[in-house]
Amino acid sequence: MGNDKWHYLPKMILLGSVMILIAGCGRDDSSDKRIIRVGHNQSQNHPTHMGMEVFEEYIEEHLGDDYDVQLYPSELLGTQTNMVQLTQTGAVEITVASNSILETFNDQFEIFNLPYLFESQEAYRAVMNDPEIVQPIFQGTADSGFVTMAWLDAGIRNFYVTDTQINEPEDLRGLKIRVQQSPTNVRMMQLLGGSATPMGFGDVYTAIQSGVIDGAENNELALTENGHGDVVNYYSYTQHQMIPDEVIVNTVFLEGLSSEERRIFEEGFSLMQQTQHEAWAQKVDEARVHAQENMGVEFNYPDVSAFREAVLPLHEEVLDNNPTLKPIYERIQEKAAEVSETEEGETE
Ligand code: GCU
Repeated sequence: MGNDKWHYLPKMILLGSVMILIAGCGRDDSSDKRIIRVGHNQSQNHPTHMGMEVFEEYIEEHLGDDYDVQLYPSELLGTQTNMVQLTQTGAVEITVASNSILETFNDQFEIFNLPYLFESQEAYRAVMNDPEIVQPIFQGTADSGFVTMAWLDAGIRNFYVTDTQINEPEDLRGLKIRVQQSPTNVRMMQLLGGSATPMGFGDVYTAIQSGVIDGAENNELALTENGHGDVVNYYSYTQHQMIPDEVIVNTVFLEGLSSEERRIFEEGFSLMQQTQHEAWAQKVDEARVHAQENMGVEFNYPDVSAFREAVLPLHEEVLDNNPTLKPIYERIQEKAAEVSETEEGETE
């Protein structure tokens, strides 16, 4: 783990490779197969890449005469924001994008970026697996050039910093913390008292190492798969967000599929999602142990109520600015209540 030192690669090489790839967009001349480019920003050990490999295998097994699926991990096609733009134009067919950054492309995605939206991972998964809640958002972006065909687990986001354990919001005061490039996340950080430094995921390691920032916030795999555990000492379970990754697909490409091809691609997306979800919990457990034992990261579990209280005004701010989200927000609360009633029933 942590051996995928892609963050050291000079940006010029990456940019060069993107240009070459896109110049060769479309068909593989030697075999006349349609190339399907899949971009993401995780390492090849990550559950997301495991999901992509299963997808590639499935599509090529069933449609291999016509399609060649090519996987580009580790920001090889650029940052997530670049990859979303490339997916809008069709230069890339499929991209994994954090729901956070998608809010800048379509404001319906804001809803899942709210801190402390979900009481538990069970509630989060139940909501994300409920087509009535998510499909209007997932399919409602066709005008922006893409739709969402699967969601991937990205766990729970927590703070990790170089010099101090975070036990209460006060501990974040004055610290420069990297956040994703999303207005909701910047505002969340302001409400918590820290100084928000938005940047792409691939720049975080070097920014912490060089002291440009004091830390960041993410799930445990960032410590191991991205090596952030080498440059921070404390990981604090503030559990402030559960933000899914969305698998977005260029609409022109999807609409060009025959109904039989579409059926096979949909099955491929569903297998991708299932594989990623199944691998998630085990990878997180392994990452926690590895970060603690081999990277010297200290974990702590603060009382989250003060963090929750500090950021709750953001729910109202977002709903006031974007009232179309209100019915979805209410439905999410209902769903969460149903989940906790079922859980209570099961434990009685
Ligand atoms: C998680 C998430 C990524 C995202 C990253 C980030 O790793 O899975 O999609 O890019 O967080 O903080 O940028």
